[in-house]
Amino acid sequence: MKILAIESSCDDTGVAIVRDGKEVLINLVSSQEKIHAKFGGVVPEVASRQHLQTLYPLIDEALKRTKLTPKDIDALAVTVTPGLLGSLLVGVNAAKILGYLWHKPVIAVNHLQGHIYAGELMGRLRFPLVALVASGGHSEFVYMKKHGDYIYLGGTRDDAAGEAFDKAARFLGLGYPGGPAIAAAAANIQYPISNSTINKLPRPMGDSDQIDFSFSGLKTALTRAKGNPTELAYEFQEAATDVLVENFKKAITKYKPKVILIGGGVSANRVLRTKLEGVAETAGVELVLPAMQYCTDNAAMIGAAAYFVHNPKRDQWYNAEVII
Ligand code: KG4
Ligand code: ZN
Repeated sequence: MKILAIESSCDDTGVAIVRDGKEVLINLVSSQEKIHAKFGGVVPEVASRQHLQTLYPLIDEALKRTKLTPKDIDALAVTVTPGLLGSLLVGVNAAKILGYLWHKPVIAVNHLQGHIYAGELMGRLRFPLVALVASGGHSEFVYMKKHGDYIYLGGTRDDAAGEAFDKAARFLGLGYPGGPAIAAAAANIQYPISNSTINKLPRPMGDSDQIDFSFSGLKTALTRAKGNPTELAYEFQEAATDVLVENFKKAITKYKPKVILIGGGVSANRVLRTKLEGVAETAGVELVLPAMQYCTDNAAMIGAAAYFVHNPKRDQWYNAEVII
């Protein structure tokens, strides 16, 4: 089953064609990063207009490069929520129009579901699993005992992890998007900084036995800490990734998953990936890390999720909402 998937929930326009939920035939992403960088964040109106310009040529390009025609496509998939309303509308309308013209079903996919199924592109997912979606807008732990079955375990009380990175980078004058900027600055420090050099940043809510965390205290502490931007970027990255890792440990103890998985833009963070490798090894669980191109927003993950939302072969429907 070949699904043509569209992702336009934020500032990346994505088009992909994915076979049977795992084989990516093409994955195109047109990034608006440079356009929004001068504003220090995504400007919703600008993002929607940019999607309008980019999306249709990208669909043509995906078909051309794979030498496929609309006849070869079995279904369309599109991110329907959460995201910027105008941006989502561009993608949803495109999918509905193509579904109508090509006589194909259109499968609605939740963006967070997509970030989890980026893991499916690394090989078939096994269950039970605990996933963390850590993106610009979300930081949520989810338990899954089978495809399409999501139990919310907990998450951030305030900022999402990516948002915290973005705000920290802005405060430190490191630019946008903040995650890669903080990671690049912190990479200049090859050794742990001694406590005497700068203040140690807190790991808020570390004592709680709930899967529950907060980044606002960490951000405030950052604004009061002494040190140069490079040192502070390093410390911030250490603290923010520790918070996520500690919650993974709690989730492993409590829910005993076979697999732990991370998705969303923050899963591109190499320090976090390395720390999670350690956690998985100690706990004896399998770790699924998406390839770098599937961490940040892309349509391949939407195509993978769509296959499990609606799999006509198994005649099963998981949280399915087919919009045409
Ligand atoms: O998943 P994503 O592309 O878009 C949303 O759904 O929000 O995530 C974007 C977020 C941004 O906040 C960005 O700063 C963060 O992911 N990010 C990172 C890294 N790369 C992107 N955060 C930490 N380290 C990274 N290497
Ligand atoms: Zn995302």
